[in-house]
Amino acid sequence: MSATIAESRRESDDIEQRVETLLEQMTLVEKIGQMSQLNASDGHAPDYLGDALRAGKVGSVLNVADVEIINELQRIAVEESRLGIPLIVGRDVIHGFRTIMPIPLGQAASFNPDIVRDGARVAALEAATAGINWTFAPMIDISRDARWGRIAESLGEDPYLTGVLGAAMVQGFQGDDLTAAGTIAACAKHFAGYGASEAGRDYSVTNIPENELRNVYLEPFKAAVDVGVTTFMTSFSDLDGVPATGNEFLLRQVLRDEWGFDGFVVSDWDSVRQLQVHGLTENDRESAHMAVTAGVDMEMAGDAYVSHLESLVEDGRVSVDTIDTRVANILRIKFKLGLFENPYTDPSRLPPLASDEALETARKAALQSVVMLKNDGDVLPLSKDRVSSLAVIGPLADAPYEQLGTWIFDGEPELSVTPLAAIRDQLGDKVSIRFVRAMETSRSKVSPAFDEAVDAARESDVAVLFLGEESILSGEAHSRADIDLPGDQAELVRRVKATGTTVVAVILAGRPLTLSNIVDHVDAILFAWHPGTMGGPAIADLLSGVESPSGKLPATFPRMVGQVPIYYNHKNTGKPPIPETTVLIDDIPVGARQTSVGNTAYHLDAGYKPLFPFGYGLSYAKYRYDNIRVSADEIGLGDTITISADLSNDGEVAADEVVQLYIRDPVANVTRPVRELKGFQRVRVEPGQTVTVDFKVHTDDLAFYGRDAQLITEPGEFHVWIGGSSETELRTGFRIAE
Ligand code: BGC
Repeated sequence: MSATIAESRRESDDIEQRVETLLEQMTLVEKIGQMSQLNASDGHAPDYLGDALRAGKVGSVLNVADVEIINELQRIAVEESRLGIPLIVGRDVIHGFRTIMPIPLGQAASFNPDIVRDGARVAALEAATAGINWTFAPMIDISRDARWGRIAESLGEDPYLTGVLGAAMVQGFQGDDLTAAGTIAACAKHFAGYGASEAGRDYSVTNIPENELRNVYLEPFKAAVDVGVTTFMTSFSDLDGVPATGNEFLLRQVLRDEWGFDGFVVSDWDSVRQLQVHGLTENDRESAHMAVTAGVDMEMAGDAYVSHLESLVEDGRVSVDTIDTRVANILRIKFKLGLFENPYTDPSRLPPLASDEALETARKAALQSVVMLKNDGDVLPLSKDRVSSLAVIGPLADAPYEQLGTWIFDGEPELSVTPLAAIRDQLGDKVSIRFVRAMETSRSKVSPAFDEAVDAARESDVAVLFLGEESILSGEAHSRADIDLPGDQAELVRRVKATGTTVVAVILAGRPLTLSNIVDHVDAILFAWHPGTMGGPAIADLLSGVESPSGKLPATFPRMVGQVPIYYNHKNTGKPPIPETTVLIDDIPVGARQTSVGNTAYHLDAGYKPLFPFGYGLSYAKYRYDNIRVSADEIGLGDTITISADLSNDGEVAADEVVQLYIRDPVANVTRPVRELKGFQRVRVEPGQTVTVDFKVHTDDLAFYGRDAQLITEPGEFHVWIGGSSETELRTGFRIAE
């Protein structure tokens, strides 16, 4: 046994010993207290939580971010309760604390685990200054529905990408040493299937068959367990008739028995009591019984556990063993975090908020998250010789709060550098800049201000329109049934375009939008998500060509909302679309016979392709992919194959490209997706340079859950693609021998 393995085994034996010793001293009431997390957001929490803390009836608080209040709550718990057990203090630190990174969906567009890890590191260091030692992130719900407001918080539609980036986020929050100042516990949420909310309506039911659940929705959660995530949160949703908070299959069979998770599980906000609202229990007592039996260790913000667990134990309906197991899970993490040794926070031991370094991390994240969707005639970057006047137009050009996105409890709009400010700063001395907001909000209707915008555009070389959605239009409980640009933004685009001036759209939004009604009326599109505190400088760098866009779409952009859910890794079906027989509605002759348009899986009015596919994103460089090859035509089970391709930059600028590897298992014991992302690398390519990109794939990487819910890799043929998006055609293949 190596020294480090021996050491960590000793440490964990030690912790188990301490957990056991402490449990032996605890009364039932104190144990149940550890299982209760209370809201501390109303005023001075020590005043109204003090007595409960002294009585050992609170294990955790959430929604407080004031270091003095938190230190005082800890002091009461540690010094005035019988056993002195410190609190674990939770907060939604989702994409930054004071320095706000792009929304997670934007970070996912970077396809860069380092960007995600560094952003989470900054967030942890900042949150820790307030006494927070636990964040409710990462949110790793697979999101295939852009109507769902919470897609903003997700890492997109792909299980592999979400797994890699979610694991990086966990590592960023939790660091290498959980006891170090500035590391905080992470929380893999929402377990599981929440992203499949029916019709993209938040909190709606999710119907996911077990095979799909295991092959798609659970994969990122397993990846989080593999890197040592300390906590899990249940989902609000109803999974095949059993809401997640009462779901023994998820919380015990999968999480504990199959994956061996030894951290703790918190419910979502009041979701224990909601088991009754779902129609599963008659009252809070039964809800507490169901949740604790299913495996929920801590109840967030409800009182079902504190009110009923004691009598459930007394009545023999819940065993002391069950309670002990739940409490041990919580205490184990408190010990691992070093809270017993260091319950208090001294902010002076941590870096200041919004330090230059933090802001630089945010700028870099924003830069790599922006996806260029269109650039006709290479109108971007705005060349200094061609552009001497710029009209900056739109409701989101100078909206410090809106560029931050959802879940920014502790962010400060005053810190935001807006695109307008950054453009003025970068280009103001060379280019004349005229700003017309044109719309009060993204939802505004046509007004006389449109004329002013049109005048400004007419008198300028280029019009840059900052469009999209405000923060409030995405996030929890903020789903939309129509995902076009809201208000009369499309009309603004049409009128500006009619001037003949070159039009660049920069879109700030919390989700993929349907852009069909503007895409032909603009020359270029930069999709910037909600880019965070430093969104402005990042966008200005891209517009001016200081940097090249390098983001890739982490979620498919539909042509129209009726195509949703639309995602690249779909199944083939028995009647896949055939381009030649895909006749769209306007081309169908009057009186056409029933079968004249073929019988395949497409929409008469939308076809079957998205507007922009997963993995797509343009660059100022000119990339060429060639020479895809495999290290062997056939490998055995347990072997690793190398799959390579050459990437050349025929353009004039150096830039990053995200090279993607897709694989298909065309014959299997359950149907498999037409393509699955199995690897990606962000590489820098200089003009004129050709680089070889190698991907190593082990046969375990090709495993999937088959009919009997077992993970297997099946011998046979595999198709392989490498390229710059999920629609790449550069293909080869190999076999796994019987
Ligand atoms: C959300 C969680 C969040 C919790 C605490 C809930 O409404 O679903 O994601 O962590 O509130 O704020």
